[in-house]
Amino acid sequence: IQMKNLPQPKSYGPLGNLPLIDKEKPVQSFMKQARELGPIYQFHFPGRASTFVSSAELAAEICDETRFDKKIGPALQKVRAFGGDGLFTSGTEEPNWKKAHNILLPSFSQQAMKGYHEKMIDLASQLVQKWARLNPNEEIDVPDDMTRLTLDTIGLCGFNYRFNSFYREDSHPFIEKMVRALDESMSQTQRLGIQDKLMVRSKQQFKEDIDYMFNLVDELIAERKQAGDQGEDDLLSHMLKGKDPETGESLDDENIRFQIITFLIAGHETTSGLLSFAIQYLLKHPEKLEKAYIEVDEVLGDATPSFKQVKQLKYVRMILNEALRLWPTAPAFSVYAKEDTTLAGKYEVQKGEAFTLLIPELHRDKSVWGQDAESFRPERFEDISKIPHHAYKPFGNGQRACIGQQFALHEAVLVLGMVLQHFELVDHTNYQLEVKETLTFKPDGLTMKVKPRRKVQ
Ligand code: HEM
Repeated sequence: IQMKNLPQPKSYGPLGNLPLIDKEKPVQSFMKQARELGPIYQFHFPGRASTFVSSAELAAEICDETRFDKKIGPALQKVRAFGGDGLFTSGTEEPNWKKAHNILLPSFSQQAMKGYHEKMIDLASQLVQKWARLNPNEEIDVPDDMTRLTLDTIGLCGFNYRFNSFYREDSHPFIEKMVRALDESMSQTQRLGIQDKLMVRSKQQFKEDIDYMFNLVDELIAERKQAGDQGEDDLLSHMLKGKDPETGESLDDENIRFQIITFLIAGHETTSGLLSFAIQYLLKHPEKLEKAYIEVDEVLGDATPSFKQVKQLKYVRMILNEALRLWPTAPAFSVYAKEDTTLAGKYEVQKGEAFTLLIPELHRDKSVWGQDAESFRPERFEDISKIPHHAYKPFGNGQRACIGQQFALHEAVLVLGMVLQHFELVDHTNYQLEVKETLTFKPDGLTMKVKPRRKVQ
């Protein structure tokens, strides 16, 4: 079967399939189409087409790195305006990808997590203190507080910078500008050429927002260079000092700027979404919540979590794995064929052709996850070795998989562990899940109340 003969949704002349997209929820629109059209289909935008895949069988094919490599598609091309040739938005063949990958891998190892642990505790404690001091009638905006927390964590662990989000009424200006820039880059990909040219004001704003981000980060780098090495053990110091073992080269200042912006973006929206979805599921599943309380009381008691105790919170980790299965907060990634090839023995693929994996659909493939694929059941992750290979991809694939996976999971387990240690969670609005999309997924408008379980030190 040739790509042009794949199933396609209803077409609207020159607009192609574009009218089928809910602009606020593009990925959920693609998920809906997958349910109607099957595990592989083509979607036509004006002037280009995308091929979406969503079954475990096809995921296994496109995750074969001998035949496929990461594609910097139209959306990532736009993010390049501020991510540059940083890790997330560079092609594997660009020299700075491999160089930065080699220099930064040790900074994201299990060993490196020990160095970040105390800083993560610092910020998780700020969250716990804030919630402990609320009056009984006050509600918590869960994604909002989680975003404060995760931004501050990557700021402190990455660059020894305190955004101090818990001391501000509104979020840090960096967030406002970053979110607007991301939003604009996503919108640009959905506009028609002529429409896009007319958006002069948005373009000007985009430029201003990017300049603000560059300035903040360039100052950080300059200050650190001026102060000299004070023995910091953060990502920035690793980037300034590190040399690529293959070439002996270090990263230049412009590339360090792109990496920092990349970590700030990639490193906090996704983790805050993960924590918010996990809380959402716990609010709706009291029996799982009870199990988590038992584990947290047994492992942590009244103590501030140590690095080792975080590793012992097995059920909390399973809850997060399961939340990432149902709502992987980075919901898609794309690859292209390095040579002509065949998918699943029947789809003929030409060199250069691209595929986008719809991760939430892959994670609901009943042939691997079973008939109850839609239900929240952390027990699926009891024995990780039983999870079918290539059926679970919340952190992407192969050498282009998420470099921050250990970081995100250590932080998320620690934070959820401390939240459960201290609070009873109350679903006072009977919240109904609505998923909001930016570059990532978040539970829209999720609020809750909390009651103390023990005294906060
Ligand atoms: C790449 C997901 C947290 C930094 C990726 C990719 C996914 C992903 C799916 C692959 C994208 C692609 O193939 O186009 C997530 C999720 C997270 C998370 C679900 C949290 C729950 C983090 C954190 C950091 C980070 C905390 C940094 C501190 C990166 C970077 C890349 C990446 C730099 C590009 C890696 C490369 O290609 O060399 N992430 N991520 N992520 N992530 Fe994450």
